[in-house]
Amino acid sequence: MEFKTLILEHQDATATVTINRAEKLNALNSATIAELDTAMKALAEDPGVRAVILTGAGEKAFVAGADISELAGLSREQGAEYARRGQAVFRYIEQMPKPVLAAVNGFALGGGCELAMACHLRFASSTARFGQPEINLGIIPGYGGTQRLPRLIGKARALQLLLTGEMLEAARALEWGLVNKVIEPGQLMPETKKFAELLAAKAPLATQYILEALYRGMETDLDSALSIEADYFGKACATEDMKEGTAAFLEKRAPQFKGK
Ligand code: COA
Repeated sequence: MEFKTLILEHQDATATVTINRAEKLNALNSATIAELDTAMKALAEDPGVRAVILTGAGEKAFVAGADISELAGLSREQGAEYARRGQAVFRYIEQMPKPVLAAVNGFALGGGCELAMACHLRFASSTARFGQPEINLGIIPGYGGTQRLPRLIGKARALQLLLTGEMLEAARALEWGLVNKVIEPGQLMPETKKFAELLAAKAPLATQYILEALYRGMETDLDSALSIEADYFGKACATEDMKEGTAAFLEKRAPQFKGK
């Protein structure tokens, strides 16, 4: 697929989506949001793709936020619509049936931090910087920042970042649970790809059910969440991969999962 603001590459079972506006630090404009939507929907439906990596072009930024030049003239109604549009695309990413990994190669600010948080796992270069600087523009995060940040790192730390707009270095982001791992810049993509391939080799339906059970369950009370888990456990038991996985263990061999 050809895009104006993204590069889409496939390697084995992993697809890499690179946001490609390095001269504007990969700031998200309407065209990029629309292309992300198209690309992620195509990857969700492609059975050959079992894991997706999202990253930014260049050395400096993952994504330095929503494009401020597009924000500047928004009315109340347009602002709400602008937020809803980006939220829908990020929510789609979060609800993808296969793992989505953010490879955060530099600034992840505003919409960039929000995009990384909508991914399932985050790997950061040691040069990455995270933040929600919207307060310094007189606005608030609109792509999920006021909601996903406290869910990931807790209310107190989230409020500190949201109310000050300060930037968090990669090492502190790791300490606060915002990222899974910090990696030297030159190793970020190779290591993230290696991890993606590890996930891509697991049973695809069990992977999908874990993602769905976790995200659906965490949005409700514990009794309902446990019931959701039991339903997915039952669905997993009905797969061919379950028969293969348990048989392979008992026969002391490696399983061959088919995603059925
Ligand atoms: N929207 C639009 N353009 C952006 C942008 C954004 N969020 N972030 C960076 N850019 C553009 C700059 O305007 C500049 O464009 P120009 O060369 O045409 O002037 C280019 O990207 C390079 O950025 P610059 O500010 O010169 O780099 P820097 O190294 O001095 O600073 C940052 C880097 C990330 C600290 C700074 O760009 C910044 O604060 N960006 C905005 C972050 C933000 O508030 N994001 C939330 C938006 S809701």
